[in-house]
Amino acid sequence: MNTLIIYFTGTFNTRYLVNKIKDRLFKLNSNYHVDTLEVNKNTLVKDLSSYNLIIFSYPIYAFNTPSLYIKYLKKLKFYNKNVKYIIAKQSGETFAINNASSNELYNLLRFKFKINIKNINEYHFILPYNIHFKFNDNFVKEILNYNIKLLEIMIYDLTNDITNIKLKTNIIYNFISYIFRIQRLGGYINSYFYKVNYAKCSRCYKCINLCPINNIVLDKKTNKIKFNNKCLMCMRCSFYCPSDAINIGLLKSWKVNWKYDLTRIEQDNSINSDYIFKQKEFFFKGYYKVIRRINERYKEIINNSK
Ligand SMILES: Cc1cc2nc3c(=O)[nH]c(=O)nc-3n(C[C@H](O)[C@H](O)[C@H](O)COP(=O)(O)O)c2cc1C
Repeated sequence: MNTLIIYFTGTFNTRYLVNKIKDRLFKLNSNYHVDTLEVNKNTLVKDLSSYNLIIFSYPIYAFNTPSLYIKYLKKLKFYNKNVKYIIAKQSGETFAINNASSNELYNLLRFKFKINIKNINEYHFILPYNIHFKFNDNFVKEILNYNIKLLEIMIYDLTNDITNIKLKTNIIYNFISYIFRIQRLGGYINSYFYKVNYAKCSRCYKCINLCPINNIVLDKKTNKIKFNNKCLMCMRCSFYCPSDAINIGLLKSWKVNWKYDLTRIEQDNSINSDYIFKQKEFFFKGYYKVIRRINERYKEIINNSK
């Protein structure tokens, strides 16, 4: 199968997931040809006519798809005949409202590109938050194990021609998700509140170089870092700032700084992966529920494959 994975990433969790998907497809069959396309401000319009499997991958932002990603997809031409589609989205929470985050993407594929909705399968991976709070290593390990199983399920469905796998949504989730699209204005408003702490800033200009839409520039007159108002609130600049010098304005109290070493956590067998199971609070119950559901389906496919 000639495959293309089109993805957007803020803090590179989606890039990690995309590489996992790519490796897994290659393991399935070394003849699998997999191209990846990361969407940013400069991504060129891609001809999709040679692909028969297209995978969409993105981080959920306020129960929605990132606006830049949708804008880019609108420029493409999608085909219906002999093409399979997969949505492999990811986010930090298991709230069911996240299920509605693909509505805009579905509508685009269905109404603009006349794609048969049955040919689209959808999966929600979990990766650690880049906002709110930092997940600890045990928590991360447990969700990485969950992702491995979900990926196996995705591959099983693909290879066994199981179609029309959808995440359940309802009128309330759809409505909340729609209302939350207003957060896209947040980047514009917040751009007036970003500040750089020059006592900490090492002038490495990593923030300028990393911004996916070139929204951060060096003001030559003042020699200061300036934020324009096209911000996507992807968090990449503050997340990767080596000296933690960026104040992210209105979202300051939700700031998480510096990356998760996912590969190390994945490989370190001394890290226990029974964190979520031991938690009692409501927030963790959601994770526990989805993990249990995935374990059940995973067992089923292992039994079927015997
Ligand atoms: C502006 C913003 C909004 C977010 N909204 C949600 C959300 O609605 N639901 C959720 O589960 N996670 C949410 N997250 C968390 C991200 O989806 C999560 O950290 C993801 O792994 C980031 O992926 P990336 O590294 O590819 O950007 C949000 C993160 C940001 C920055």
